[in-house]
Amino acid sequence: MLVIKSKSMESYAPTENALSDYAGALAHQSQPGDIFALQGTLGAGKTSFARGFIRALVGANIDVPSPTYTLVQTYDTPRGTIWHFDLYRLTRAEDVFEIGWEEALSDGICLIEWPERADRLLPPHTRYIRITPHENGTRHIQIDPA
Ligand SMILES: Nc1ncnc2c1ncn2[C@@H]1O[C@H](COP(=O)(O)OP(=O)(O)OP(=O)(O)O)[C@@H](O)[C@H]1O
Ligand SMILES: [Mg+2]
Repeated sequence: MLVIKSKSMESYAPTENALSDYAGALAHQSQPGDIFALQGTLGAGKTSFARGFIRALVGANIDVPSPTYTLVQTYDTPRGTIWHFDLYRLTRAEDVFEIGWEEALSDGICLIEWPERADRLLPPHTRYIRITPHENGTRHIQIDPA
């Protein structure tokens, strides 16, 4: 079982399913107030990770679209509301305040793609999850402590 530690953790995901399972294990330990910044290049697997995380708490059949155009999507789960942000199209960091940022950070579980767009507005307890793709299709995952 995955246990969130105070030090940096690394993992290896040979397939999208493995990445999804890893995200699901993290979801089962998450609680309101948790903020996960998902970092990685285009197509690295940030949305796949978020999908695995959300489905682990809501159900395998739920549709989890990429919030590229809506910028945010929320999901009610038994552990609290998940706020799934994709800030790729954000023009100014302050614009996050128009899409529920304060409410999300105060009592939501936040999954944030392209967190760099709002970097200075992320609180110190943000945990960074870096997904690095390899040429053979596998992924390396690193989670830094808050
Ligand atoms: N081991 C793996 N883990 C995760 N995804 C994988 C893996 N192997 C292949 N993939 C594929 O990589 C793609 C990841 O796409 P995804 O939309 O999750 O990326 P993203 O980081 O959210 O991109 P964007 O920056 O555009 O939002 C999917 O098409 C998925 O099927
Ligand atoms: Mg994405």
